[in-house]
Amino acid sequence: MGKKAIGIDIGGTGIKGAIADVKTGKLIGDRLRVETPSGGKPRDVADAVSKIVRQLGGSGSMEVGVCFPAVVQHGVTKSAANISDDWIGLDAEALFEKKLGRHIHVLNDADAAGVAEAKFGAARGRKGLTIMTTLGTGIGTAILYNGELVPNAELGHLEIDGVDYEKMAAFSAKEREGLSWVDWAARLQKYYSKLESLLVPDLIVVGGGVSKQHQEFLPLLRLKTEIVPAETRNSAGILGAAALAYKNRDN
Ligand code: BGC
Repeated sequence: MGKKAIGIDIGGTGIKGAIADVKTGKLIGDRLRVETPSGGKPRDVADAVSKIVRQLGGSGSMEVGVCFPAVVQHGVTKSAANISDDWIGLDAEALFEKKLGRHIHVLNDADAAGVAEAKFGAARGRKGLTIMTTLGTGIGTAILYNGELVPNAELGHLEIDGVDYEKMAAFSAKEREGLSWVDWAARLQKYYSKLESLLVPDLIVVGGGVSKQHQEFLPLLRLKTEIVPAETRNSAGILGAAALAYKNRDN
């Protein structure tokens, strides 16, 4: 019957979910999506998640992993990027468990993407230190050592030239400022150079929607570290959340 879990990916604009085979990294059946309720308030988001989980079906004993654009420490959301500030300090895991009446695991969105890449994507089988980065509205990061996640790295907020560099180098900065690929790549060069000088990784993986167009900017970067596009693309959050929920099913 295979090893299955439900993965839910909460973002600033949409909430996506699917049942995943956590052995093969394939989604089973349809991927569902609803708009993130306006304001992104905890109760409304929990309602939307519960709707998706009900629609997905699956057995009631199936683990559910929910990833979220926030630092998540022991189920408590400690920050909130592009979603209501009401999440800050909230026991999100308890909220979802109460609403859905089942065991839920909540984790950071970039951590989920990192787990997906380490298990099923570009970092599969890689030893040493991998840093996952997602370039979107913000910059999400995950640290993986020998494939194991070290949670809640917030390296998108590295300060460079006195600026929180997510504001300069996220994909949203390219769009907001109408930067060319070359101009944006110059900012990415600065960001990734800093990252590699501080952490000396073996591999950097680049995800986020824009990673589809990796040939426009990755070849422009000059780094000591191998840097590759993500492979799990827009299923990354779902797959990573499902895989981690399955792995931690007894916790
Ligand atoms: C947040 C991270 C999140 C990333 C991507 C950043 O602004 O601080 O927690 O992973 O955006 O959503």
